[in-house]
Amino acid sequence: MNQNPIAHRDREVSSHDHEIAIPELDDFVKRGLLTEVYATLTSGKEGTVYCCRAHPSTRCRFIAAKVYRKHAARSIRRGLYFEGRERGMKGRELRAVQKGTELGHQIMAGMWVHAEYDALHRLKQAGADVPEPIAQCDRVILMEYIGNGAGPAPHLHSADLDTDTAHRYFALILHNIEIMLSEHLIHGDLSAYNILMWKNRPCIIDLPQAVDVRFNRNAFELLQRDLENVCRFFASHGVVSSAIDLATSLWERYQRALL
Ligand SMILES: Nc1ncnc2c1ncn2[C@@H]1O[C@H](COP(=O)(O)OP(=O)(O)O)[C@@H](O)[C@H]1O
Ligand SMILES: [Mg+2]
Repeated sequence: MNQNPIAHRDREVSSHDHEIAIPELDDFVKRGLLTEVYATLTSGKEGTVYCCRAHPSTRCRFIAAKVYRKHAARSIRRGLYFEGRERGMKGRELRAVQKGTELGHQIMAGMWVHAEYDALHRLKQAGADVPEPIAQCDRVILMEYIGNGAGPAPHLHSADLDTDTAHRYFALILHNIEIMLSEHLIHGDLSAYNILMWKNRPCIIDLPQAVDVRFNRNAFELLQRDLENVCRFFASHGVVSSAIDLATSLWERYQRALL
C-alpha cells in the first residue's frame, strides 16, 4: 500500500505517469480503504470526484471519492435548501453561518458533506438506487464507484434511449423518487446529469442539497421541480407525463402516510 501522500495516476495523462498529492485522501489510505487514485472523474466548483483503487480488504476494485473544496459552501446554492439545516446548531455556529464568517463557511461545508452521506445511507437502506456510502470525513465522501476500469457509468443525459427503455427508466426513477419521499427526502437537484446508467438500472447521485420534507417548507416546490426536470427529459424520448400531476399525487400519498 502507498504511504502518504496518496499517489495519483491520472489515466488521461497516464503517458506522463505523474503523481499528484491529494492530502484529503491520506487518512483513508491509512485506514486501509484506498491504495491510490486511479483517475480524476470531474472537477467542478464544489469539488472533485476521483476513481480510486480500493484496498483488497474492501472487496471492491474501485471506490469513488468526492472531495469537496474548502470553500465549497460559498458556491453551494442555499436558498430553498437551507431551511431545516440549522436544527441542532449552537447559537454561536448559527450566527457564524448567518454572518458568512470563515467559521460559518466551514460549518456549512461540513453540513453539506454530512447531509450527502446521511442521505446516501438512508436511501441505500431503503432500497433506492444510489451508490453505497463507505466512509466520510470533513470534506470527503467515499462511496461505491459506479462504472469500471474503462470509465464511470454514463449519464442518463447522454444516453441514446429507445422508447421502451425510456419508459422503463422513467418508471424506475419515479419509483426511486417515491422511496426518497417515503424516507422524507427530496433530491432537490434531480436531472439527467445526476443520474448514471449502469447494468440496466439508474443510479442517482449528487445529494448534498437533499431536503428533509419534515423541516423545509419548500419541499413541495423542490419535488415539483425535480419531477419537471425528469418529465422534460423523458418527454424528449417519447414518454408522456405531467410533472404537476405526479408531484401532487405523490405528495398526497406522502401526507396520508401511504408511501
Ligand atoms: N459514485 C460514483 N461513481 C461513478 N462516478 C461518479 C460517482 N459519483 C460521482 N461521479 C461522477 O462525478 C460527477 C460529479 O459528481 P456529482 O456528485 O454529480 O457532483 P457535482 O455535480 O456537484 O460536481 C458525476 O456527474 C459522475 O460523472
Ligand atoms: Mg452533479
